[in-house]
Amino acid sequence: MGGEGDIMVSLKFLALLLYVNVVACIAAKQAIYLVLMEGEPAAFHRSSPPREDARTFNQNSEVYKAHAKHLVDSHDQLLVGTLETGSYKRLYSFKHIVNGFAVHTTASQARKLKDAPGVKLMERDRGAKLMTTYTPQFLGIPGVWTQEGGDRNAGEGIVIGFVDTGINPFHPSFAYDPTNTFSSNISGFSGACETGPRFPANSCNGKIVSARYFAAGAKATATLNSSVDFLSPFDAVGHGSHVASTAAGNTGVPVIVNGFFYGRASGMAPRARIAVYKAVYPTVGTLTDVLSAIDQATQDGVDILTLSVGPDEPPEDTLTFLNMFDIFMLFARRAGVFVVQAAGNHGPDPSSVLSYSPWAIGVAASGTDRTYPSSLLLGNGQKVGGVGLSGPTFGDGLFLYKLVLAKDSIKINGTFPRTPQYIEECQYPEALDHNIVQGSVVICTFSAGFLNETSTLTAIINTARTLGFMGFLLVANPTYGDFVAEPIPFSVPGIMIPSVADAQVILQYYEHQTERDKRGFVTKFNASAAIGDGRVASFKRQSPTVSRFSSRGPDFIDINKSPADVLKPDILAPGHQIWAAWSPMSASNPILMGYDFALLSGTSMATPHIAGIAALIKQHNPLWTPSLIASAISTTATKYNINGELIMAEGYDVGSFYPSTPFDFGAGLVSPNRAVDPGLAFSSGKRYEDFISFMCSLPNVDPDRIRTATGESCNHSLSHPANLNLPSVTVSAVAGTQLVHRTVNNVGLRPETYLCSVLPPNGTTVNVYPPWFSIASQGTQDLDIQINVTKAMRHFTFGEIVMTGSLNHIVRIPLSVLPNSTSS
Ligand SMILES: *[C@@H]1O[C@H](CO)[C@@H](O)[C@H](O)[C@H]1NC(C)=O
Ligand SMILES: *[C@@H]1O[C@H](CO)[C@@H](O)[C@H](O)[C@H]1NC(C)=O
Ligand SMILES: *[C@@H]1O[C@H](CO)[C@@H](O)[C@H](O)[C@H]1NC(C)=O
Ligand SMILES: *[C@@H]1O[C@H](CO)[C@@H](O)[C@H](O)[C@H]1NC(C)=O
Ligand SMILES: *[C@@H]1O[C@H](CO)[C@@H](O)[C@H](O)[C@H]1NC(C)=O
Ligand SMILES: *[C@@H]1O[C@H](CO)[C@@H](O)[C@H](O)[C@H]1NC(C)=O
Ligand SMILES: *[C@@H]1O[C@H](CO)[C@@H](O)[C@H](O)[C@H]1NC(C)=O
Ligand SMILES: *[C@@H]1O[C@H](CO)[C@@H](O)[C@H](O)[C@H]1NC(C)=O
Ligand SMILES: *[C@@H]1O[C@H](CO)[C@@H](O)[C@H](O)[C@H]1NC(C)=O
Repeated sequence: MGGEGDIMVSLKFLALLLYVNVVACIAAKQAIYLVLMEGEPAAFHRSSPPREDARTFNQNSEVYKAHAKHLVDSHDQLLVGTLETGSYKRLYSFKHIVNGFAVHTTASQARKLKDAPGVKLMERDRGAKLMTTYTPQFLGIPGVWTQEGGDRNAGEGIVIGFVDTGINPFHPSFAYDPTNTFSSNISGFSGACETGPRFPANSCNGKIVSARYFAAGAKATATLNSSVDFLSPFDAVGHGSHVASTAAGNTGVPVIVNGFFYGRASGMAPRARIAVYKAVYPTVGTLTDVLSAIDQATQDGVDILTLSVGPDEPPEDTLTFLNMFDIFMLFARRAGVFVVQAAGNHGPDPSSVLSYSPWAIGVAASGTDRTYPSSLLLGNGQKVGGVGLSGPTFGDGLFLYKLVLAKDSIKINGTFPRTPQYIEECQYPEALDHNIVQGSVVICTFSAGFLNETSTLTAIINTARTLGFMGFLLVANPTYGDFVAEPIPFSVPGIMIPSVADAQVILQYYEHQTERDKRGFVTKFNASAAIGDGRVASFKRQSPTVSRFSSRGPDFIDINKSPADVLKPDILAPGHQIWAAWSPMSASNPILMGYDFALLSGTSMATPHIAGIAALIKQHNPLWTPSLIASAISTTATKYNINGELIMAEGYDVGSFYPSTPFDFGAGLVSPNRAVDPGLAFSSGKRYEDFISFMCSLPNVDPDRIRTATGESCNHSLSHPANLNLPSVTVSAVAGTQLVHRTVNNVGLRPETYLCSVLPPNGTTVNVYPPWFSIASQGTQDLDIQINVTKAMRHFTFGEIVMTGSLNHIVRIPLSVLPNSTSS
C-alpha cells in the first residue's frame, strides 16, 4: 500500500489540524506579492553587528523611529513611481527585521515592480496553513519544575510569541492567578493589547502580556465572514489556544469534556508569558500576515517564537533556505529570537519536511504512551477494538442492544436526497426508518463521502441524536481499506472500527444473526451489541514512536530535492493525541464545537512542547543564545523509548513500524531534565555570519542570490557546508574521505574531561580527533571528524558521536552520511 492509497477521513484532517486550510487567491488575477528592498531594516541599522544574545536595538530611539519612517516613505515612493494609480494596495511595510513590503496587485503590475530600482527579491504569497494532562509527566518535566522552584515558577520571566489563530483569552489555561503574581519584570519586551470583537481590554491579564492581529493579507485575499473571522486577537478556531496552552498554559487545569474528567492539563512552562500574534483566520491564512507577525514579534522582543503555521509546500523557484518565510526566520534569529517551527505533516514520505534552515528548529511529532482504547461487545461474546472518546451505551457497555446495519433501515417509502453511499454513511436522518433504529446500535459504513470529505462524523452524530440511536459504529469498508481514526469526543456513544478485518468480524456476526427474505429485506434483527467506555486512558509499553504523519528528512536545498548537509527534522516531541485548550466556537471543526479542550495531533502540537522547554532552559540560563539552547535540546535528546529500545517510526501501512533514523526524529526525543545542563554546547559568537557562510558554501550556488536575499556578500564561505557548527553532522555525498570540523564550549560550571566514542555509519569509518580532551569551564575545544568511505552506498546511513564527561554529562550528535564512493 502506498501513501497515496491511504484513506483519510475528514476527521483526520481535523486531528492533523496541522495547518488550517488556506486559500491562495480569490479576486481575479490579483495576488499578494512580497517584496524585499535594498537597505538595512531598522533593527540592524547603524548598530554594531547585533549579537545573537542581545536585543541591541532600541525601538524607542529617535534614530530607530526616523529610519523606520524613512523606509515606509521609500516603499510608498517606489509604488507611486512604478505602478499605475489605483492598481494596487500596499498591505504592509516590513521595516523592523526586513526592509520590504507586501502589495496586492495584478501580475502585470507586479512584473514592473520586479525590475524597479531597489527591489531585490519578489515572491508571490503562497498562503499559510496551520500545522496535556499527560505529556509533562511523559517527558519528565516535573523534575525540571522542581529545579525551577516548583511548577509555580517554571518559565518565569520568559515571553513566548505565538503566530497562529489567536487565543481564547478567558480559558482557565490562560487565567491570571492573583495569589501567585509574577515576580520578575520581563525586560526588553514591549507589546500591545489590540482589542476588538470578543477580545476586551482585560483579555491581556498579565499571563497574556500582549495580543495583536494581522489581517491585511486575509482581507485582500478573501471575503471575510464577520461571524468567524474576527478582527481581533480572539481565536475562533481553537488551534492557537491549543498551541499556546501546550507551551505556556497554567498548571493543573482540569480537562472536562462532555462531563467526563480526563485529568489535568499543564503547559511545559506554565509561568511563561504569552504574546499572541493572530495571523490565520477560519476563512483564509496568508503568508503576508504571518510575516508581518514575525516582524512585529521580533520588534516586541519575544524570547521564543512558535510557528505551528507556514507554507505547506516547498518553494518552487528558489533555494529552500531563501524563500521569504525562511528569510524572515533568519532575521528573527539574528535579532536574538529562538525560532521553533513545525516540521510538517507529510510523512512518512522521505524529504517531506517543511523546515529547511539551520536557523529554525524543526519539530517532529511522536505519540505518547497513552492511548484511548475503545471496544465493542457483540452478542456472541466477541470483543472488537476501536477508537472513540465516548461513554458506554446505557448499562455500562454490558447490556446488549439490537444491532442494525444502516443500509437495512432505509425507509422503503421515504424520500431521501442522496445516493446510497450517503445512506450507509448515516449522513441523513430522513433516510433511515425511525422505528428500526431508535434505541439500536447502528452500523454506519465508511464510503466515498468520507473519502472525498463530503461526509462527516458530525452528521452521523446528528443522525444518531435525531433518531435516538443507542449508539453508532463507523466501520471500515473493504473497498477502501483501513482508515486512520483519531479519538474524538462523541456526545453520543459511538466507536470507529478503522480496520477492515475487525469490521468483517462484526458484519459476519451480523449477517449470521439476521434473517432476510428472498429480496434481501430483513425480516428479523437478532444481532446485538454494546459499546464500551472509550474515555479511559491505557498506557502502552512501546512508546514513544514517531507518528506516521510527521514529515521526514533528508533536508533538501531546492525543488529537485537535492539533499542538504543539514539535519531535519531537528528534534522529536509529543504531537499525537495531545489534550490542550480549545475555543468552543471551533469555527473550522464543527465536531469540536462547544468544547473547552481538544485532543489533537500534528507537528503543530509538537512544536509548542519545544517552545516551552526552550523557555525553561532560558530561565535557567538567562544569557544563553538561541544556538546554545538549540544545542542543549539536541545533544541531550534520547533515541530510546521507555523500554530502553530504539524508538520506532510508523511506516506507510497503518500500524507498521521500522527503526527510526535521524531523518525521522532528528537528534531524538527531547529530554528536558537533561537539556538544562548539557555540559558541552556547539555554539558560535557570530552565528548570523556563519549562516551566510554556510549558504555561500552550498554547491552551485550563485552568491548574487544570497546577496539579493540577505544583503550579505559571500566574503567567506565554509570549506564545506557540513562545517556549520551544528549539534549534528550531515554529509550528503562523501567521495573517499571528508573532514568535518566542530567546536564545542564547556557551558558547565566546572572543568570536565570528555571521552569521544563513535558509532560509524555503515559503509564508513569515522575518527574523532582528539579522542579525549579536558576542557575548562567556558573553555573551547576544536574537534576534527574524519569520515572515510569503505563501501559505496546509494542511500544515507547513520551513526553517532558520543562524548562522555567525567561529571556524567553525555553529549550525543547524530551522523547522517551518504557514502557515495570509496575514492575522491
Ligand atoms: C519591575 O520594574 C519596575 C519599573 O521599572 C520596578 O519599579 C520594579 O522594581 C521591577 N520589579 C522587579 C521584581 O524587578
Ligand atoms: C459565516 O459563518 C457562519 C458561522 O459559521 C455561517 O453560518 C455562515 O454561513 C457564514 N457565512 C458565509 C457567507 O459564509
Ligand atoms: C408510502 O407513500 C405513499 C405515497 O407517498 C403514501 O400514500 C403511503 O402512506 C406511504 N406509506 C408508508 C408506509 O409510509
Ligand atoms: C463525493 O462522493 C460522492 C459519492 O461518490 C459523490 O456523489 C459526490 O459528488 C462526491 N463529492 C465530491 C465533492 O467529490
Ligand atoms: C437470536 O440470537 C440468540 C442469541 O444470539 C439465539 O439464541 C437465537 O437462536 C437467535 N434467534 C434466531 C431466530 O436466530
Ligand atoms: C562582508 O564584508 C563586508 C565588508 O567588509 C562586511 O560589512 C560584512 O559584514 C561581511 N559579511 C559577512 C557575512 O561576513
Ligand atoms: C549495517 O549493516 C549491517 C550488515 O549489512 C546491517 O545488519 C545493519 O542493520 C546495518 N545498520 C544500519 C544502521 O543500517
Ligand atoms: C581516512 O582517509 C585519509 C585520507 O585518505 C587517511 O589519511 C586516513 O588515515 C584515513 N583514516 C582511516 C581511519 O582510515
Ligand atoms: C557519486 O558517485 C558517482 C559515481 O560513483 C559520481 O558519478 C557522482 O558524481 C557522485 N556524486 C556526488 C554528489 O559526489
